[in-house]
Order: sequence, then structure tokens, then C-alpha cells
Amino acid sequence: MGAMQDWLAAAAAERERCHRVRRTDSERSPAGRTDLLDLASNDYLGLAADPRLREAAAAALARFGAGARASRVVVGTTQAHEEIEHELARLTGQPSCLVFSSGYAANLGVLTALGSAETLLITDAHVHASLIDGARLSRSPVQVVPHADLDALERALRTRAEARALVAVESVYSVSGDAADLAATATLCARHDALLIVDEAHGIGVAGDGRGAVHAAGLAGAGHVVVTATLSKALGSQGGAVLGPAAVREHLVNTARTFLFDTALAPAAAAAAAAACRVILDEPDRVQRLHALAAVIATAADIPRSAGAVQSIPVGDPEAAAEAADGL
Ligand SMILES: Cc1ncc(COP(=O)(O)O)c(C=O)c1O
Repeated sequence: MGAMQDWLAAAAAERERCHRVRRTDSERSPAGRTDLLDLASNDYLGLAADPRLREAAAAALARFGAGARASRVVVGTTQAHEEIEHELARLTGQPSCLVFSSGYAANLGVLTALGSAETLLITDAHVHASLIDGARLSRSPVQVVPHADLDALERALRTRAEARALVAVESVYSVSGDAADLAATATLCARHDALLIVDEAHGIGVAGDGRGAVHAAGLAGAGHVVVTATLSKALGSQGGAVLGPAAVREHLVNTARTFLFDTALAPAAAAAAAAACRVILDEPDRVQRLHALAAVIATAADIPRSAGAVQSIPVGDPEAAAEAADGL
């Protein structure tokens, strides 16, 4: 066996030993099933199979074809892309929107396009892998502050040597389910001339009547706040987005490598997400029902009600967590 094969085998054995083997079997998918109760996916509003999303996707498929054919800046932009950017900006109250092929690509794109050697990038310790990877690729000096520690954030901003600063947080954290104090974080960013990037992957469609936590905090349209989003969770589709000042959008169109050198989002996915934005605005009771159901789970599991749809039960160690999951 070669060195790489040996290394693969050792890594697999170690995963087995720690009960951390991940599987990709379709048996566990709730798609098309009526015999399963879906407590594990991110289809928070049950929109992935909604007839209005399917019809919008089918119409876009018929009109534009299966794929976008090229990068957005070559010939990949269709009216479906313009429509989702309009609808998502309307939903979140933001002046402009740019969609990417995933939320992961949106986070990589925004941090690499706005970061530089002269820009300190401060991230909360609990941010998603895509923001961590974006920070690594950004060429910025990176400082990770303890989770939700506003004093540490203030210190990092106040003592920085760099002319510019970016701060990256999540509005609703994807694992622990708690919410960032966006008002206080944005105030600190304004005071220290920093741009705040809020990942609303778990906030849009969930927080603030579905319009997101940034909107609920009165920060939509603020010149020093940028939102990143995914179309693949509450919006029931696929894709990602960056929302905020028009100057940021313009900069990303011209410099974000995960936008420029990536084939545009499939038009059908864009059309389905646009339909989801309309459903969220037209049917506010969907979001209320989500919160009522989350409260039922929190009560049943005897845990505090979290800020969003993620109800987290900290188990303490990975083996016990894997056992609990198997038991479920
Ligand atoms: C907080 C957060 N940001 C970004 C992403 C990436 O979004 P996408 O799945 O659209 O790539 C996810 C999860 O997928 C997430 O949980």
C-alpha cells in the first residue's frame, strides 16, 4: 500500500474508534416521505416541497433550461437571477442583493473580496466553517474572539493596527441556536469604523417575522452592515446570497472569486427561492407556527427555548452525542 492509502486507512480506523463516521445514505432523507417526522433538516418552513416552489422551479426549468451555462458575468445571468435578487432584497429590506451558487460560496466570496492585509478580520469563535475558511483565504490578519464576548470584540477593534476592520458573526448560531446581540455588535462596529458581516443562514425565514434578525434589529440598509444568506434552509431551495450596500454588491461582482469563476446558480433554484420569499411575506403565520413547534420541542426536551429553529441539547462529549443520535 502507498503512503496515501496507509494514511486513508489510519484516518478511517480513527473515525471508527471515535464513533465519528459520517454516512450519506438516502434512507434517512425526509424527501418524498410521509412516514417520517422531519426534526433534522433545515427545511424550517416546510417549503422545499411546497407546490408554489415546485411550480416556479418547473417554469424556470422549462424556460431557461437545467443549467445556467456560464458565470453570471459571462452569459449566466437570467431573469430568474434578477428576480431572486429583487425578492430577497425586498424580504430583508436591503438595498441590494447578489446571489451565489451556495451560502458557502457567498461567505467565501464576501470575506475574500473585502479582506486584505490592511483589514483586521474579527470572527466569533462559533462561526460556521464557511466563514472560517473565508477568513483563512482572505489574506487578512484574523482574530477569533470568544463566543458572544462583546468586551473582547471591543478590545480587538479598539487596539487594532489595521486601517480597516471586518467583524463576522451569525445572527442565529447554527449549532447552539443562540442569537447574537446584533444591536450592540453593530453599535461597536459603527463606533470603531468596522463593517459587520452577519450570516443569516439560520435567521432568514425564522427571525423577525421571517425577514431576518438584521431587519428585526432595525439594521436593514445600515451602511456598515452586510448580510450573508443561504437559499437552502428556510427558503427551501439551493444557493446563497450577500445583501447590503450597492457599493459592496458592485465590488463583489467585480472581485469575488466564488462569484466570478463559478457557474451561475441554476435558474430553477433561483426561481424556487424567489417563490419562497413571496410565501414568507404573504403568510406570516408560517413563521409563527415554526416558533410554536420549536417551543413544543424545547418543553418536551426540557431545554431553554433557543432564538431560532435549532433546538440544541448540549450532551458534553462526542461519543455520548453519537449514542444519543443512534438511540433516536
Ligand atoms: C451558518 C451557516 N452559514 C453558511 C452555510 C452554508 O450554506 P449552504 O448550505 O447554502 O452552502 C450554512 C449551512 O449550510 C450555515 O449553517
